[in-house]
Amino acid sequence: MYSSKITGLGHYVPENVVTNDDLAQWMDTNDEWIQERTGIKERRWIDPKTGDTTAVMGAKAAKIAIERANLTKDDIDFIIFATLSPDMYFPGGGVQIQDLLEMPTIGALDVRNQCSGFIYSLSIADQFIKTGMYKNILVIGSENHSGGLEKSTRGRGVTVIFGDGAGAAVLSRSEEEGRGILSSHLHSEGKHAKELALIGPSTERWVPEIIKDNDPEDVSYFPHMNGQFVFKHAVVRFSEAIVEGLQANGLNKEDIDMLIPHQANLRIAQFIQKKFGLADNKVYNNIMRYGNTTAASIIIALTEAWEEGKIKENDLVVLAAFGSGFTWGSVVIRW
Ligand code: UT7
Repeated sequence: MYSSKITGLGHYVPENVVTNDDLAQWMDTNDEWIQERTGIKERRWIDPKTGDTTAVMGAKAAKIAIERANLTKDDIDFIIFATLSPDMYFPGGGVQIQDLLEMPTIGALDVRNQCSGFIYSLSIADQFIKTGMYKNILVIGSENHSGGLEKSTRGRGVTVIFGDGAGAAVLSRSEEEGRGILSSHLHSEGKHAKELALIGPSTERWVPEIIKDNDPEDVSYFPHMNGQFVFKHAVVRFSEAIVEGLQANGLNKEDIDMLIPHQANLRIAQFIQKKFGLADNKVYNNIMRYGNTTAASIIIALTEAWEEGKIKENDLVVLAAFGSGFTWGSVVIRW
């Protein structure tokens, strides 16, 4: 029986820093409100002149992860790419990564699970490796939010929260028992789909229809979030997902060495930290610097925590996410 372990990690964020004061020039908001409600101080937004896109950033992060895994692009058997902000409506970004990295004609799968996208992707990769089908899988999360946000007071409830960036992991076959990915748990509750959604362009709100209506009040093509509703569900589902992951492995909260929560809101992460009684050095947050980067958030945070030496051999690492869908889940790793 094979297991899977992370052998390489990489991340890439655009150089362009957008502070809360920068945002206050375009909309009625302020640094105090943003920091108090979300913990965010700044985020990275793509400067279009640089040529960065969702796929380009994903490829940059992937290159680093492959190198750190001591592999070459030719060793990768499969690509799993998670994003809610693909460069094109179709095809998905996975094939762009295959092309940008000049990889052989391996399979590329796109995952559309928003903030839980990386958790879902890792879980899928783990299954492919456990069955023996693939040996090395590239798992990527990348987002270009800034291109599609409403940069005015009307959009401030959403726009101040989201940032751009990408992260990647190489998941490889291992024969060491009790190491690597120990479990993954995935959930959804589609009745709340529209509480955090971007409706159009889509077959429900197609581009010609949006143009024909030419309605200045139409916000269907900007992301919408019922913030308080999402917040209330997030704190419950995050906790459930962590407990479920621990219980499945006969572990307790005291066994956690590092919790990497999806970076939705620092207040949510702090609530979870308190609830599980975790010391500051057992939870990694970087939302202060990057905002919420959705499918990229967990993998960027995991990469930074590892780069900073905060994750060591044999540590128990718990990843947990909640977001649009609603979707949520956890992955438990023995590093
Ligand atoms: O990643 C996926 C999962 N996402 C989440 O889990 C996010 C969950 N939700 C949240 O993090 C929070 O609900 C937000 C950060 C989005 C909002 O914080 P809140 O404390 O729930 O604020 P609110 O939406 O209740 O708004 C409070 C007030 C409103 O004004 P009134 O009605 O009280 O006069 C808003 O219009 O704050 C106003 N407001 C702002 N003011 C300044 C909303 N956005 C802004 C802003 N700057 N950017």
